Amino acid sequence: MSSHGTPIPMVSHPSGPLVGDAHVPGDKSISHRALILGALTVGETSITGLLEGDDVLATAAAMRAFGAEVTQTGPGAWSVHGVGVGGFGEPEDVIDCGNAGTGVRLIMGAMATTPITATFTGDASLRGRPMGRITDPIALFGAQAHGRSGGRLPMTIVGAAAPVPVRYIVPMPSAQVKSAVLLAGLNAPGQTVVIEREATRDHTERMLAGFGAEITTEETDEGRVITLTGQPEFAPQSIDVPRDPSSAAFPVAAALIVEGSDVLVPNIGLNPTRSGLFTTLREMGADLSYENERVVAGEPVADLRARYSPDMRGIAVPPERAASMIDEYPILSVVASFATGRTEMRGVKELRVKESDRIDAMARGLEANGVTVEEGEDWWIVTGLGPKGVPGGGTAAARLDHRIAMSFLCLGMGAQAAVGIDDGGPIATSFPIFEPLMTGLGATLERTGD
Ligand code: S3P
Repeated sequence: MSSHGTPIPMVSHPSGPLVGDAHVPGDKSISHRALILGALTVGETSITGLLEGDDVLATAAAMRAFGAEVTQTGPGAWSVHGVGVGGFGEPEDVIDCGNAGTGVRLIMGAMATTPITATFTGDASLRGRPMGRITDPIALFGAQAHGRSGGRLPMTIVGAAAPVPVRYIVPMPSAQVKSAVLLAGLNAPGQTVVIEREATRDHTERMLAGFGAEITTEETDEGRVITLTGQPEFAPQSIDVPRDPSSAAFPVAAALIVEGSDVLVPNIGLNPTRSGLFTTLREMGADLSYENERVVAGEPVADLRARYSPDMRGIAVPPERAASMIDEYPILSVVASFATGRTEMRGVKELRVKESDRIDAMARGLEANGVTVEEGEDWWIVTGLGPKGVPGGGTAAARLDHRIAMSFLCLGMGAQAAVGIDDGGPIATSFPIFEPLMTGLGATLERTGD
């Protein structure tokens, strides 16, 4: 089912060359953070390039419910008049975060050290995802959580009235958990310390510093030690959200597997905590180049050029790279299907608790389209069939997961026969212009429902 209720079945047909420029939307991770930090800042924060996908719009609505003024001033342009650190008011109603794990987890952290009570829910996918990873650390600050069994939504958080700062070692590689703890630390007096053993995306740290927080990161034997001084005076910001490398992954991948393709994806952030997929594709022999490399607002940015790559080989993806490409394994498995040899993906247990169990979702859908997949709890291996070698002809379940839906539509573009998905609705959560963008490059996508 789509998050909007009515499923949107779709079919992707084998495609002629994909050619042209693909202007993908703003970064989802940075968009959530810009709204939340803007809401915690007195004065006007202006945002351009905001991703106007369902996930981020749910966060905008949530920030209004906590008392911020959040308005759209133009396409992708938003203004946030915030309430200040510790200034959140109690929402009058349940906060519905839709499909967004990042939204709900960051917001729970942001309100956990304010003496208010809020109840959170989401769609069927989000209601199935574990929240214990957030409620454990926020309990250390003094917040209480009352949810369903297994730490599932709906869940009520009672914010701490007298929060204390914490020192927390994040038990799994998760930028959401790290960020929730840092956001909770904002309204605790003294220093909150978060330690992560593996580096995950660092947008929260960068943006906190941008708003004026005192925050340091130290690489130690224990891992990355991040120290935040609580109760900062934030200054409103102008934020230009870079385009999302996780969305860029789809037109890039499609170009690599469709004969004759040549696609330019401009202005993509290549922050090393996010760019693992592109490194991996280049190691596999993809014709993927970085053009016009530059630094924008302290972030490395480039235009990506992807061309049809019939000589890709399967590789063993280094497990230590997993965090920097965690959302890209589904589309990597599609590219791997068109490579020669086996692509091994290990150290990826977190894929089991994303919007869907992404190993299972991809494995079943690839098998339905003639690709062999082996899997274990934290690993999977795709045996590539070489260029033009994927039969296709099957239908995959999207499981309320935007990245699963888009991955199978890309598979169909390079396969011998069309590939269907039961529901393209979830694509709107992160990449609402996916369909016109891909058809504009030459793809043939069809909505097959009534
Ligand atoms: C995100 C962190 C990652 C990622 C998600 C966005 C973020 O989740 O999968 O899409 O913006 O912090 P985890 O923290 O669960 O790894």
